[in-house]
Amino acid sequence: MKNAFSRRKFMGGFALAAGYFSLQSDTGLLASPPSELGPDGRPLSPDAFDKLAKLSFNENPYGPPESVLKAMTGAMKYANRYGYPDGGIVQAIADHHGVGKENVLLAAGSTEILDVVDETFLEGGKKVLGVEPTFATVYEFALGLKANAIRLQLLPDHRQDIPAMIQAARENQQDLGFVYLVNPNNPTGVIVTKQEVRQLLDGMPEGVPVLIDEAYHHFVESPDYETSIPYVKEGRPVIVARTFSKIVGLAGMRLGYAVAPAALITRMRAHAIASINAIVKWGGVAALRDTEAQARCKAVTLQLRKQTTAELTGLGYTVLPSEANFFMVHLRRPAKTVIGEFRQRGILVGRPFPPMDDYLRVSVGNADEMARFLAAFKEILPVSGSTATTKPG
Ligand SMILES: Cc1ncc(COP(=O)(O)O)c(C=O)c1O
Repeated sequence: MKNAFSRRKFMGGFALAAGYFSLQSDTGLLASPPSELGPDGRPLSPDAFDKLAKLSFNENPYGPPESVLKAMTGAMKYANRYGYPDGGIVQAIADHHGVGKENVLLAAGSTEILDVVDETFLEGGKKVLGVEPTFATVYEFALGLKANAIRLQLLPDHRQDIPAMIQAARENQQDLGFVYLVNPNNPTGVIVTKQEVRQLLDGMPEGVPVLIDEAYHHFVESPDYETSIPYVKEGRPVIVARTFSKIVGLAGMRLGYAVAPAALITRMRAHAIASINAIVKWGGVAALRDTEAQARCKAVTLQLRKQTTAELTGLGYTVLPSEANFFMVHLRRPAKTVIGEFRQRGILVGRPFPPMDDYLRVSVGNADEMARFLAAFKEILPVSGSTATTKPG
């Protein structure tokens, strides 16, 4: 339960529930207007919003599957209740991972988990250690707590530098709150291999929690990747964050969770609002069960990603090897100079991700959206003279 119902928490909870805070606050978003505003800064009509190709927030373009919609519709009858049967969502997540209910913390999206981890482990001016660029919300919440972040550069091949992280963790041992690892990373889509995750965990100073954000877990194909849930079962100080926003398309409904050793979950629970609506709890249970729908979403997303990135490579552009539902293409010019041009054509693409200013992040939308993206790309950007060196994602 919350200790104090402060105004900051209330506002935070409201913003989280609205599914908006992280995106608004994420680094560099101001370079492109929020998707619900027109180029003139005025709110778009729902109709105009629907027509946009939405390739900027790594959302699932298909929405939740039939099974999930049915479960959510069935739960509408609890809309007027504080107390209601919740479908056993926490037990369902625990069973899914083979852990106990005491190892699970439910939240209004994994964004809330990131906030809770900051609040729990950065108390007293501790620091968070991670890379840049990554999903910057953890750093921004830390800033709000007047805590500092140690941000390490990516390696030249855009992998996360595990030896450098270990070294920085050891050098800052005294005031290190936790380490943040996004796997696969956002915005690059590049994975941290299972050997590297083990290397990182083995190299950490005793007891330092490592938050491993697996928002894009379900899209990974590489045999070099593995979830970090087994480390939780070993009792290591590992917190795995997961979301229902991506593979099952519930971003607007706000549902995520953490899996961690019970002692860490107990500490985190004290900072959680966990104000999750009845409807999405039932939707979440159905989503976990519907593995066929997840497989369909993964298959079509990867097929469209590979098709699109192959075309870009054919045009002479380098694409980073993504294992997620988005990819980064090297424009060799500042991405911010073209985002507006895509927007004029009704296409939303990713914001700048410093220091990777010359890379454009593109979410994998549906077939129609990807066709519109490619057509616009060919209009806006010249065919590149040089030969692409990286394989398509
Ligand atoms: C790496 C990462 N973590 C967390 C989130 C937040 O997800 P949620 O919708 O569950 O709050 C995102 C959203 O894009 C993300 O990219």
